[in-house]
Amino acid sequence: MEVFTENQTLSAALDPYRISKKIGIVPTMGALHEGHLSLVRRALNENDCVVVSIFVNPTQFNNEGDLVNYPRTLGKDVALLETLQGTVFVYAPKAKELYNNHIVSRSYNFGSIATEMEGKHRQGHFDGVGTVVCLLFKAVRPHTSYFGEKDFQQLQIVRKMTAIEKLPVKVIGCSIIREPSMLAMSSRNKRLNAQELQAAAVINKCLRMAAKYFREKSISEINTMVSNCFKQSSLTLEYFEIANEKTLKTVKRKRKGITYRGFIAAFSGEVRLIDNQKLS
Ligand code: PAF
Repeated sequence: MEVFTENQTLSAALDPYRISKKIGIVPTMGALHEGHLSLVRRALNENDCVVVSIFVNPTQFNNEGDLVNYPRTLGKDVALLETLQGTVFVYAPKAKELYNNHIVSRSYNFGSIATEMEGKHRQGHFDGVGTVVCLLFKAVRPHTSYFGEKDFQQLQIVRKMTAIEKLPVKVIGCSIIREPSMLAMSSRNKRLNAQELQAAAVINKCLRMAAKYFREKSISEINTMVSNCFKQSSLTLEYFEIANEKTLKTVKRKRKGITYRGFIAAFSGEVRLIDNQKLS
């Protein structure tokens, strides 16, 4: 499998697909796992070829340590992609090339979807995500793109960025793929040992508990249950929020006719993990 590092050579490989064929993209930061592969499989089913971008984007990290420690496993990633049936192009650009020598984020106005939860706790993160996904869409010019719902807020940001930039790319959100313990699959899980992996199951356990009691209990009661549950675990809760699924504004009280989602960010040591779940 050829790994393209330059826009020009990737563009030339994609040229035959531009007329009457469909190009899909799965943007990733590498350290691929079954969650990514499920996105690539879906993209392969719905397109004639799929570009998997592998690029650890410096502008979306608000913590230098997190950027440095982010797992980089290009050889293994390519080997995993080679196990799939279909035409996959790996695009692993250098930062200078993708950013045209200007490695900074564009400042977007994403409105309420960017200000809460991840937006509050990771300053500048969504501008970095919006900027890099825009650059990837412009380099690849795909018809359709695929993102996991684990990063639910990111998915809405990508939709909004695509509208702001008027890019003709369909954005598809795909269900979260989980470990048998129900822990959401994530490249960051690779930094956890077996015991930490098991303990991290508390994240989804709390979200399921929130979903179970959502109708009968108030949001403040659910908050208390979740925070008690974390106190008994080895993880540190950064936030648990219930938000309007459309606006992503966090709420303190439920209202009829609105759909809600629960969101958690928590630390296992230095490793930050997130998850979310629909509440109804
Ligand atoms: O979800 C990710 O892996 C990244 O945020 C993305 C979308 C590839 C942008 O760098």
